[in-house]
Amino acid sequence: MNLTLDIIYLIATITFIYGLKYLGHPETAKKGNLIAAFGMGIAIVGTLFLHDLVVPTFTYVLIIAAIAVGTVLGWIIALKVQMTKMPELVSLFNGFGGASATIIGLVEFNKSIGDPTQTTTTMAAIIIGSITFSGSVVAWGKLNGTMKSLIRLPKYNLINNVVILGLIVFAAYFVWSSSSSQPLLYLLLFVALVYGVLFVIPIGGADMPVVISLLNSLTGIAAAITGILYSNMVMIVGGILVGSAGLILTFAMCKAMNRSLFSVIFGAFGSTQAVAGSQSVKGDIKHATVSDVAILMNYSQRVIFVPGYGLAVAQAQHAIHELEQLLESKGVQVKYAIHPVAGRMPGHMNVLLAESNVEYNKLAEMDDVNPEFKNTDVVFVVGANDVVNPAAHNDPSSPIYGMPILEAADAKQIIVNKRSMNPGYAGIENELFYNPKNSMLFGDAKTVIQSLISELKGM
Ligand code: TAP
Repeated sequence: MNLTLDIIYLIATITFIYGLKYLGHPETAKKGNLIAAFGMGIAIVGTLFLHDLVVPTFTYVLIIAAIAVGTVLGWIIALKVQMTKMPELVSLFNGFGGASATIIGLVEFNKSIGDPTQTTTTMAAIIIGSITFSGSVVAWGKLNGTMKSLIRLPKYNLINNVVILGLIVFAAYFVWSSSSSQPLLYLLLFVALVYGVLFVIPIGGADMPVVISLLNSLTGIAAAITGILYSNMVMIVGGILVGSAGLILTFAMCKAMNRSLFSVIFGAFGSTQAVAGSQSVKGDIKHATVSDVAILMNYSQRVIFVPGYGLAVAQAQHAIHELEQLLESKGVQVKYAIHPVAGRMPGHMNVLLAESNVEYNKLAEMDDVNPEFKNTDVVFVVGANDVVNPAAHNDPSSPIYGMPILEAADAKQIIVNKRSMNPGYAGIENELFYNPKNSMLFGDAKTVIQSLISELKGM
């Protein structure tokens, strides 16, 4: 029996690795997801029916009922969720992963007393799982806007560092004293949950991508720790893969946001104001009409599209691809400039544009495309805001100060499409809109692009 289970775990582990590899590219991501899901499926079925324990039938009924309810709920939620709401859903799923690790830690606590290694593992599962759970719930609330206005405490850096140190000392006490106190255990749980909230509340403006990928990585670490509790290879490997992939992503996000991981963990980030920076933007705004922009593009040699969150909101990915093809057929060279944190989740723009079959070689990464703006006739910023905001360079009080941006201001002409003068995610004004080379083309991205297409077809 156990040899069969070991073989199943080995196959599952291989599918996780292949799944992860395929997830690295939008074209193979669906296949990667299916392969890894298959591996997870056989690991669950194998664990349920091929383990050595004697389990009462009623326990099986409970497990199968829980799997059925979870599957149906997950299926419905995944079918209904809009692409723009995906990061919130991922945050919530992260949170559930953390909650599972916490529950396992609580259930196994009594058995671990007296064995320092097991108690350490149990404590780690409870603490990391709880931080992940409450932190992810706050991240979910911040992303959907319901918790955006949560007020951070004064001296929050100091408070956070004291609370996390207190948690470590608290856990060390359990290991050292072999205490079996339930009230103390639940106090530890409570403090860890509070820390998760305190950890995410101060993170403002453009820093959310880093914290989301860090929480994602913590979910994996929590899962790996619970795997250690059960000496379960597939849980350990699965958890480590999620943890390390999340950590790699965290480093990539840190690089994109120009933050060090040390400053992320020890609370130095989010320390700028999440509201408008001190420099107020002044100047006049120029308006463009659809036909002005169509003429401008028609007589250009090089055009760069800068897509942002608004493109996803408007579901304008098919329209922008059609515009790109139309311009190319007229001899205009078109590229898409992709900022690593454009949108609301890592790779958001890549996934969105892959959905409308934009050729992958048309997507240019920030570092490659930035030197090209100065030779570009028109940059068309569609539903993007923070990722082209020059305050990142020249306003030290801005929450996005230090973040690398797409240098749209270098282009010969700038056209910004959005619906109003409302700010983007970081909640700050954008001086690019007042640049003498810029004209605003107000309206919903899909409607505006479709009108541009009709106008260009008539030229
Ligand atoms: P944002 O700065 O959020 O700006 C998006 C703009 O799209 C808004 O100013 C909005 O203006 C416009 N918009 C919304 N709906 C639209 C529609 N239907 N048609 C046309 N425009 C529309 O987006 P960005 O430039 O992509 O930057 C992303 C921001 O999100 C960064 O601050 C980043 O740090 C943060 N963030 C990113 C992630 C990841 S991992 N990517 C995760 C969390 C947060 P109007 O309302 O005036 O139309």
